[in-house]
Amino acid sequence: MSKTVVVVGGAMGIGGSCSRIFHQNNWNVAILDIADKGKELASELGSRCTFISCDASKESDVKDAIGSVIKEFGEIEGLVCSVGIQHYGTVTETSEEDWDRVMNVNVKSGFLCSKYAIPSMQRNGKGVVIIVSSVQAYISQNNVAVYTTSKTAQLGLTRSIAVDYGPQIRSVAICPGTVDTPMFRSSIALSPDPQEVYDECVEMHLTKRIGQPDEVGELIHFLAGDNAGFITGQAIRIDGGLGIVAAGSKRD
Ligand SMILES: NC(=O)c1ccc[n+]([C@@H]2O[C@H](COP(=O)([O-])OP(=O)(O)OC[C@H]3O[C@@H](n4cnc5c(N)ncnc54)[C@H](O)[C@@H]3O)[C@@H](O)[C@H]2O)c1
Repeated sequence: MSKTVVVVGGAMGIGGSCSRIFHQNNWNVAILDIADKGKELASELGSRCTFISCDASKESDVKDAIGSVIKEFGEIEGLVCSVGIQHYGTVTETSEEDWDRVMNVNVKSGFLCSKYAIPSMQRNGKGVVIIVSSVQAYISQNNVAVYTTSKTAQLGLTRSIAVDYGPQIRSVAICPGTVDTPMFRSSIALSPDPQEVYDECVEMHLTKRIGQPDEVGELIHFLAGDNAGFITGQAIRIDGGLGIVAAGSKRD
């Protein structure tokens, strides 16, 4: 029998790759997203895939969506929280409204989706919560005060779930470097010279390229499976070596 995964923010980007990869690997996939692209992806993937329109920062939406998933596919084994938004600004430039919006979408969504998926995982006998954070949980650029704060908070949520619900339920955070997704493309489009920003991003990574959504999706799929059964409470970086070079290091 197929296992069931809920991919929150599963319409596109890293979440979209997760939806495809889990589906290819015979999971039932429930895409929860605010974007209609989720509907298109679900109909492209066909049977064993459903789309549920859901604002993951709203408790009533999440409660109803998780209820529908259980009704359609049975108990949940995997939850991937890939939902996220970016906001640029320092602390003094960020309004209370923007702060709350980003924290709600990036952090509260993981809390709410876990709150309603974990009881189903417990009935299932086991489960995995995977939260997509960022290398910005460790290193920060200028002008990303609320984003970097939200990405750091996700590591605390991951640890709490691992400690409170192990051994039945594992929880892992993923910390990607720059990944070529719609979020990345709309971020660089804010610059007068998007190609220059793209090239700078490439240069920042030891791999001299940015990541692809499928590379992150494959890692997430591995972490959701039994072969990753000894990994919990951790934050796993998939970042092309971004941010580990000491100042003054020389390369030929
Ligand atoms: N792209 C990168 O370079 C990068 C790097 C590190 C971390 N991340 C993180 O990876 C995750 C996915 O990012 P991405 O680049 O794939 O972004 P994306 O914008 O390409 O995809 C995010 C998805 O979340 C959905 N979404 C947004 N708000 C929502 C809400 N309130 N409720 C439900 N769905 C909502 C969007 O519709 C979209 O389908 C985010 O948490 C992001 O912070 C991205």
